[in-house]
Amino acid sequence: MNLYEQLGGDPAIAVAVESFYSRVLADPELARYFEGMDVSAIKRHQRDFFSVLLDGPEIYDGRSMRNAHSGLGITEAEYTRVLRHLRDTLDDLRVEPELADGVIRRIELLRAAIVEIR
Ligand code: HEM
Repeated sequence: MNLYEQLGGDPAIAVAVESFYSRVLADPELARYFEGMDVSAIKRHQRDFFSVLLDGPEIYDGRSMRNAHSGLGITEAEYTRVLRHLRDTLDDLRVEPELADGVIRRIELLRAAIVEIR
């Protein structure tokens, strides 16, 4: 089974993305990035993107990670913070620690494309 299937497919990813975004938007160090953004559109893309990233159906039709984040000035620390929220979300949803590690490792691969301030 690939990571997408192990997590529980699209319904599980949808729940995880909702909860993950609530955490990110509630974080005073991150919330300003999303002011004035169409958060429901980002969430929808995030959901499709996770599907592709975790070897599920290739349904993502948004921008590349480099293009989507270019000019935002995201720092290493902010990236790490977002990942921490994702980890906490997966722990909260009682995802097995080894599976959560696998998901986080995949997302770590995007760090260089998303972080602009090192
Ligand atoms: C952890 C890995 C991350 C992933 C997988 C990810 C994924 C995505 C995706 C799929 C989109 C939608 C792109 C589109 O609609 O074409 C997006 C947009 C966005 N992301 Fe991320 N992101 C990550 C980290 C971050 C971080 C660390 C921040 C800020 C602290 C951030 C802020 C944003 C913002 C503000 C947008 C909207 C940009 C716009 O529409 O102009 N993201 N992200």
